[in-house]
Amino acid sequence: MLDERLEEVKRPEAPEKVQAFFTSVAKRYDLANTLMSFGTHYSWKRKAVKAADVKEGMNMVDICAGTADVSLMLAKAAGPNGRVTAVDWNEAMLEVGQHKIDKAGLTEQVTTKIGDAEALPLEDNTYDRATVAVASRHLNIDKHFQEMYRVLKPGGRGLCLDMFQPPNRIFRKLYDTYSYTMMPRIATWVTRDKTGVYDYLPDSIRVYYTPEDFATEMKNAGFKDVKFWPLCKGIAYIHTGVK
Ligand SMILES: C[S@@+](CC[C@H](N)C(=O)[O-])C[C@H]1O[C@@H](n2cnc3c(N)ncnc32)[C@H](O)[C@@H]1O
Repeated sequence: MLDERLEEVKRPEAPEKVQAFFTSVAKRYDLANTLMSFGTHYSWKRKAVKAADVKEGMNMVDICAGTADVSLMLAKAAGPNGRVTAVDWNEAMLEVGQHKIDKAGLTEQVTTKIGDAEALPLEDNTYDRATVAVASRHLNIDKHFQEMYRVLKPGGRGLCLDMFQPPNRIFRKLYDTYSYTMMPRIATWVTRDKTGVYDYLPDSIRVYYTPEDFATEMKNAGFKDVKFWPLCKGIAYIHTGVK
């Protein structure tokens, strides 16, 4: 039964469906994330920003920035002269992000921009760092990596944080049980979502790339020195590559 349903999970979902997901949950997205992950998403994001090896005054882009958690962490790491462009195609998510940017007093450092990750409205060879967190499953991975590569300066670093199926069978079973039962219920209740995004998520994690294939896609886009490593027993991975 589950296998039949997985057969129907298309990767990625239609753009209008993805937009509807995030418009529906935007205002309560952060709270749902925190409850679903018991707060660990912040620690993953902090680890990702550390791995990005941000230097003072860098110019960076956070692709699929959503509510701007990673954008804010990047901006803090780069200090007052650093700049972050937070790109997302969903207005509702970026509105929440803008509110957080204003509240953090980082309006000068972080600029939000509406744009498609597969056709970024950004110049070639511009950024020292480009990040994307928990969004790759919504994208055509090849186009997305090509765009990330295009906007990076030569020598710039691309970084992805995303969720995968944990490799250990016992842990995977436990994780599946949680992600197919409690997780969608908590998140749907918190966000009052009616689009079914939180039922789609565990399916999409199952049919998603392996971390190894994901690394190959990065290399195919031109990235060199591609590295990846697990977080939290392989529920999430960080991938990095250099232009
Ligand atoms: C799960 S959220 C992640 C947000 C944020 N990076 C974080 O870590 O909390 C996925 C985000 O990707 C955005 N997104 C999905 N497809 C996109 C596309 N083609 N172009 C730009 N943004 C996209 C959604 O609007 C949403 O804000």
